[in-house]
Amino acid sequence: MKVLFVDSCMKQGEESRTKILCNSFLEELKKVNTGCEIETVVLKDEEMRPYNNDMVDERYKIVEDQDWDHPMLKYAKQFAEADRIVIGAPYWDLAFPSLLKIYIEHIFVSGLTFEATDKGLKGLSKADKAVFIQTAGGFVGETDPGTEYLKYVLKTLGVQEFTRVSADFIDVVGVNVEEKLAEAKKVLKDMAAAW
Ligand SMILES: Cc1cc2nc3c(=O)[nH]c(=O)nc-3n(C[C@H](O)[C@H](O)[C@H](O)COP(=O)(O)O)c2cc1C
Repeated sequence: MKVLFVDSCMKQGEESRTKILCNSFLEELKKVNTGCEIETVVLKDEEMRPYNNDMVDERYKIVEDQDWDHPMLKYAKQFAEADRIVIGAPYWDLAFPSLLKIYIEHIFVSGLTFEATDKGLKGLSKADKAVFIQTAGGFVGETDPGTEYLKYVLKTLGVQEFTRVSADFIDVVGVNVEEKLAEAKKVLKDMAAAW
């Protein structure tokens, strides 16, 4: 099973609480599924530009030529070929860091991750499940605009099952951060066992 980890954490390594949760989930996954292969794309380390019209035109030509191995399509190809998707991102400004939106611009490729039909867009990605791992400084609740958007994006690209695991309130004075993270880790551990 090929798992794609879209690391949208902005702090370095273990300084990021979101990354701590993601690593914990991936470790659990490796324990229960020894054949599982994890590919990671660290968004902050990529030279990923937001799309402009010239890029759209260039990509249109690449798609027309069916040049699926073109470097411009590398993120979409990697996404389309994964069996499972893990996205980790902190809660920023009611959503997530903008690099994740830029990544989404890169993976929406007609003919690779979706195709247009007379009934609307049809997802072409192999993956059947995705988990979105989030931490938030304050209150988020059952869901938030960023999560709803991600869920819709993934569904459109063919990933039907979407689960969010979030550790909220972790910047609130007096909150026991370790306890909050431990609660989320427990949920993620149970999820890994059944994934
Ligand atoms: C730019 C920025 C925007 C943020 N926006 C929100 C927000 O809208 N609501 C909230 O509850 N916390 C917000 N936070 C706090 C983060 O969600 C919180 O610190 C999170 O745990 C950071 O995750 P990390 O340790 O993985 O970087 C924001 C933090 C930053 C740096």
